[in-house]
Amino acid sequence: MSRVAYVNGAYRPLSQASVSIEDRGYQFADAIYEVWAVRGGRLLDLDGHLTRLARSLRAIGIDSPMSDASLLAVAAETVRRNRVRDGLVYLQISRGVAPRDHAFPDPPVRPSVIVVAKPADMKAIEARARVGIAVITAPDQRWARCDIKSVGLLPNVLAKQAAREAGAFEAWLVDEAGKVTEGTSSNAWIIDAEGRLRTPPLSKNILAGVTRAALLRIAEAHQIPVLEQGFTVEEAHHAREAFISSASAGALAVVSIDGHVVGDGAPGPVAQLLRDAYFGAPDPPG
Ligand code: PDD
Repeated sequence: MSRVAYVNGAYRPLSQASVSIEDRGYQFADAIYEVWAVRGGRLLDLDGHLTRLARSLRAIGIDSPMSDASLLAVAAETVRRNRVRDGLVYLQISRGVAPRDHAFPDPPVRPSVIVVAKPADMKAIEARARVGIAVITAPDQRWARCDIKSVGLLPNVLAKQAAREAGAFEAWLVDEAGKVTEGTSSNAWIIDAEGRLRTPPLSKNILAGVTRAALLRIAEAHQIPVLEQGFTVEEAHHAREAFISSASAGALAVVSIDGHVVGDGAPGPVAQLLRDAYFGAPDPPG
């Protein structure tokens, strides 16, 4: 079955889905995006991602091109047309198409909206979750507004590639004070030596993960002590557990950081509890 994308009001085969070379997303990364996990054909954390989408649009001065209801209808239709049960929906909104000039087009042009849905390899995802992942650390070389979900992701791309070349799944970005801010496409967590669940506080230096917020609610419901406080790489090396969170990964255990084994080198109980509570426990391997 060929995949289908939504582009500015029409559903097109992926091979014919395109935007202009003068799209400001292409020219300037003048665009924002959202990613929803799809499980059982449904978008997870629907409202959390819509709220963040509205916030990102406001932050860069793009008027919302569609109502939430229309966006959801498009997302649902894209999932349906691509027959995605478990996977992702990716939505991108750019400032639109205009002759290249750094300042905003005046008068404003219609924002470009694209939506794609793709299936996930659930067997590979569950296999990865059973053994956990390795992360490396890398300097955080991003801009000062990482709270905006901008498509300007070059530093993230370079750090993720460094991780892949080192045989790791993710790179944890480290600020000038030696603290981990977040991953290239995920938030960062540890269970510290005192048994507290720790993740950096919300600031302009990290993305306010929708999964992060959901995991904090789950932790509270399970009376797990939580500290929204940053941690150093050294503290992470000595943590009982570590994990990452994102729409695509849920909560995914980290078992090695720059080659230092975390805990006993296997996914720990807190990461597992949070993962199961978020996604629902997986079927046993078979
Ligand atoms: N990434 N931090 C960064 C830099 C991210 O790119 C993401 C998400 C997160 C986690 O946010 P959430 O829990 O809302 O997915 C944190 C998405 C999945 C992506 O870029 O594909």
